[in-house]
Amino acid sequence: MRLDRFLANMGCGTRSEVKHLVKSGKVTVNGKILRDPGVQIVPEQDQIICDGQAVEYRKYIYLMLNKPAGVISATEDVKERTVLDLLDPKYYNKGIFPVGRLDKDTEGLLLLTNDGPLGHRLLSPKKKVFKTYYARIQGWVTAEDQEAFRDGILLDDGYRTLPGDLTILAEGPVSEVEVMICEGKFHQVKRMFLALGKQVVYLKRVAMGELVLDPRLQLGEYRELEPDEIQRLTRIEE
Ligand code: URA
Repeated sequence: MRLDRFLANMGCGTRSEVKHLVKSGKVTVNGKILRDPGVQIVPEQDQIICDGQAVEYRKYIYLMLNKPAGVISATEDVKERTVLDLLDPKYYNKGIFPVGRLDKDTEGLLLLTNDGPLGHRLLSPKKKVFKTYYARIQGWVTAEDQEAFRDGILLDDGYRTLPGDLTILAEGPVSEVEVMICEGKFHQVKRMFLALGKQVVYLKRVAMGELVLDPRLQLGEYRELEPDEIQRLTRIEE
């Protein structure tokens, strides 16, 4: 890989900024100053220091976003603000995409990455990666509703969902629940409740597999995953 491309990909600056750094002797490769931005390096092997800082090679980027309502889970759109619009420009043009979709009015955990194979595994129903949601439901949620979730629910289009789990957190005219499902059909949680004659009035994803939304993230905030979080996610088998 070209040295300038590597540096730009690792977030050391724009392509023209890093070219400038290289030409001005601020970058060493295996201890030697190299002033040619186009020189080929081997990211997995070479030790690169840029402006006094060792540049750690990361093949992929993993971000945890606390998605706010009002933005859509897409990479681009002509009319709507997308989750990518919430990111710092240093993450642009890196092939980052949201893993799965949250509705425009749904909040919470959204993983953004450019690791295509991982995204695929997390979304595959065969892998049974459970997504956990906190929801507020108009009306009293009952033990019969819990049983229906356990059995799988027949949706409006004739599809029967895989078994899910419904925990009642607070009973009342507006109930609070936790839902765990391992599929990601369009509007799935809302449609499961609709099939039971109930309406979801608030929905937030709190976990995806072992990845749990960091409670310190305010709506619209994001952070890179910690190495142990990446490790746990990438343990999902091929
Ligand atoms: N189920 C829904 O109905 N909406 C979401 O955004 C996610 C799951």
